[in-house]
Parts: sequence; C-alpha cells; structure tokens
Amino acid sequence: MGSQPEPHILFTRDEIAATVKRLATEIRRDYQDKHPLLIGVLKGSFMFMADLIRLLDFPLEVEFITVSSYGRAMESSGKIKVVQGLRSKVRGRDVLVIEDIVDTGLAISFLLDYLRKKKPASLRLCALTDKPSRRQVPVTIDYLGFTVPNKFIVGYGIDWDEKFRYLPDIYTLEGDI
Ligand code: IMP
Ligand code: MG
Repeated sequence: MGSQPEPHILFTRDEIAATVKRLATEIRRDYQDKHPLLIGVLKGSFMFMADLIRLLDFPLEVEFITVSSYGRAMESSGKIKVVQGLRSKVRGRDVLVIEDIVDTGLAISFLLDYLRKKKPASLRLCALTDKPSRRQVPVTIDYLGFTVPNKFIVGYGIDWDEKFRYLPDIYTLEGDI
C-alpha cells in the first residue's frame, strides 16, 4: 500500500520574503525606467508575482499567460502549448517573464520562443526556483530565487494535482506521488 504524500518544509515564509525582496531590488535596478511588461506564468507564479510587484515601486504592466502543464503526473509530457494568450502587445516592450519553477526547462523555453517571435525589445526570465538536476534544454535564468534539490516541491502557489498551493511556505512532497 502507498503512503500519503507528506510535505516537509524546505523554505519558510521568512526566507521566501527575504528572497523576493532581493529579487525586487535586482529587478528595480534594471527596469525602473523601462516601463516593463511582467508576464506571470499561471497558475504557479500567482503568489510570487503578487508579492514581487508590491515591492516594485515604478511603472509597469502585468499580464498572465497559461501554458499546458503536468496535470497529475510528475513527469512533463514534453508536449507544451500556450493555452491562454496575452491581451497586451509584446512588440517593442521590455518583457520579464515570471515563473514558479524551471524543471526540465521544456515549458519555459517553449514560452520564451513563443514570446521572442513577437519581437519584444528585450526578454528576460525571473524564476522563484530552479531544479537544475532535471534540465533537458538549456535555460538562462536572469533573476533566480532558490535552487532546489531533485524533489517535488509545493506551496507558495506551487501545486501537486492542484493541491497545496495555499501553503505560505515551500515544502518538498515525499511519499507516493
Ligand atoms: P518544466 O517544463 O519541466 O521545466 O516544468 C514546467 C512546469 O512544471 C513548472 O513551471 C511547474 O509548473 C511544473 N513543475 C515542475 N517541477 C515541479 C515541482 O517540483 N512541483 C510542482 N510543479 C512543478
Ligand atoms: Mg509553471
């Protein structure tokens, strides 16, 4: 019989807050005069995005985009598509994509290619977490929060099968998932 997946704390809310503050400082330094377009990748980035933009005290615009993701399985299917596109024009804008986690890199590299075709003035990536041990395609993360071990993580917006998003801290999920 399988064991219920159990969350173990990885990063506390205080560690997350300090990291988001550090990222906001880096982003402010580079974008404060650029009126950037921040594009959050749904759903996992919503909490991070909300905390981050409250620390960015300069003019910017916010968008969200949805790419097809894992579903219940832990493994990426490798088949990725943009499910819900953008309302804002990307052409000529300084675009910063906000992602929860870069794992194999397949989803985000697909999305960056999709956005690059729309001819932004610049295109960079901010990721709250990075799991480099699982990378299948190279990805440059311009602003990185945490590097995480090769474990499934949840909380602070990040889910397993739509569960655990509400947790204010980040956990590894152990057991049968
Ligand atoms: P990638 O294409 O493998 O880089 O991963 C794409 C997406 O899978 C991420 O943006 C997450 O939404 C999801 N994902 C990858 N690893 C995890 C994890 O450890 N926990 C929850 N979601 C994950
Ligand atoms: Mg995601």
